[in-house]
Amino acid sequence: MTMKAALERLAALRREASLGGGEARLQAQHDRGKLGARERLNLLLDEGSFVELDRFVTHRSTDFGLDSRKFLGDGVVTGYGTIRGRLVYVFSQDFTVFGGSLSEAHAEKIVKVQEMALRNGAPLIGLNDSGGARIQEGVVSLGGYADIFLRNTLASGVIPQISVILGPCAGGAVYSPAITDFVYMVRGTSFMFVTGPGVVKTVTQEDIDMEGLGGADVHAETSGVAHFAHDSEAECLAGVRALFRFVPQNNSERPPGGADADPHDRRSEKILELFPDKPNRPYDMLDVIHEVVDDGDFYEVHAGFARNLVTGFAHLGGHAVGIVANQPAVLAGVLDIDASDKGARFVRFCDAFNIPLVVFEDVPGFLPGVGQEHGGIIRHGAKLLYAFCEATVPKVTVITRKAYGGAYDVMNSKHIRGDINLAWPTAEIAVMGPKGAVEVLFRKEIAASEDPEAEAEARRVEYREKFAHPYIAASRGYVDDVIDPRDTRPRLVSALDMLVDKRDANPPKKHGNIPL
Ligand code: HXC
Repeated sequence: MTMKAALERLAALRREASLGGGEARLQAQHDRGKLGARERLNLLLDEGSFVELDRFVTHRSTDFGLDSRKFLGDGVVTGYGTIRGRLVYVFSQDFTVFGGSLSEAHAEKIVKVQEMALRNGAPLIGLNDSGGARIQEGVVSLGGYADIFLRNTLASGVIPQISVILGPCAGGAVYSPAITDFVYMVRGTSFMFVTGPGVVKTVTQEDIDMEGLGGADVHAETSGVAHFAHDSEAECLAGVRALFRFVPQNNSERPPGGADADPHDRRSEKILELFPDKPNRPYDMLDVIHEVVDDGDFYEVHAGFARNLVTGFAHLGGHAVGIVANQPAVLAGVLDIDASDKGARFVRFCDAFNIPLVVFEDVPGFLPGVGQEHGGIIRHGAKLLYAFCEATVPKVTVITRKAYGGAYDVMNSKHIRGDINLAWPTAEIAVMGPKGAVEVLFRKEIAASEDPEAEAEARRVEYREKFAHPYIAASRGYVDDVIDPRDTRPRLVSALDMLVDKRDANPPKKHGNIPL
């Protein structure tokens, strides 16, 4: 064949590959408010950076008439590109080809980029839009999923893995995203469930639609499966790009620094205005965080789930940090099952990827109640405790108000290797709050008193004076300093600067046994 003819053939094949399942199916995708597999990659990656691999791969099935229905690429576009100039590997499932279903060949393409990502130490982003295992291929397709799950697991903690759900994601297909670090969804068009509404109806007689069963808000607010819910695909993919301001390429690199234009010594008068005078009045910890971090720029993670604990990324003095904060504005900032799970997973991500942890603490304790106890608050709360204990990245805590009971220990206390632990003068550090303590300690005296309520109040005042302040902890060195809240930012920046080369390690082991 002449070069001219060969080039013409190549061009024709490339054109064919880029069409996926054809224009009509792409139009149907658009009509549903969804983009095509390649259009999504164009939005996700830096312009012109995408390099495609395996565009000529096709399936090898002959059953059910498939030998006469082959599409170049076999329903997934794979390759590499850059985000903010940094290398990432990607796969983008193409719903226009057999509903993006996963064949042996399709799985092999994904496995190839997974292995390249791991070998070359760069993040992997999967854009999922798929009807699940390709039914015509039977067990071979199931094997393909298992091959992907294994690589997800091996890569966990080595490279960041991000799943973007942009269509149906059913059956075992949800488990690859579930193993990855962050799951993004889009309202109205992306769904995750182990079994769909039809099967649910048959088995449990419950009537529910796709959105109600496994839509973006359900997973971002109720199940906690999704970390982010967006209104459109474009917004969602922009959200993924923004995450890259904080995460490193792999577990041996430092996270990216910020612009570092916000003065390190900037004090905040506004913090005093945000903070209420009465100890039981709520305030919004997000306001405190925004006041303290560089340029007020906070990338919240899992914002809709377990809102009594805030998690997210920011820069502080140019250092990327992971922030974990009790939220007094929701359930008084108490730690419950969901908050513990949320916090533990976030802490472990930060620790795996060398992102220092900054904790803002105002916590009345773990949530009491039959539901919580029977749901395993002991087991779940232990995850957060374990995660903070195990973390060896720089760890800094600011106790703004309450640090009561076990929650004092859990929230990155000095005792579990907090590096710098600061307290505002409003901090209350004790086994429990005055009300509970007085009932336990002085029940008889209060009952015997002529005016029980006045007696109880007098005891509470006495208890408060004795315990509800940070100076006993400070006298022991459990907090390193009691600071003026207005100095929170300068003190945190100083701590992070000081800890920049911190080295700490855990005893050698195959792996720990976190109470899952
Ligand atoms: C082969 C599939 C397919 C699949 C869809 N298609 N899913 N082909 N295997 N799993 C094909 C359809 O035949 C159709 O082909 C095209 O994709 C578009 O599908 P539609 O049904 O027309 O689209 P829509 O109405 O939007 O419905 C999308 C859907 C539905 C909700 C995803 O297709 C669906 O329910 N599919 C099956 C989902 C499922 O149960 N998968 C198995 C899960 S179990 P044509 O040629 O007509 O365009 C699993 C095991 C994993 O995945 C194991 C891991 C442990």
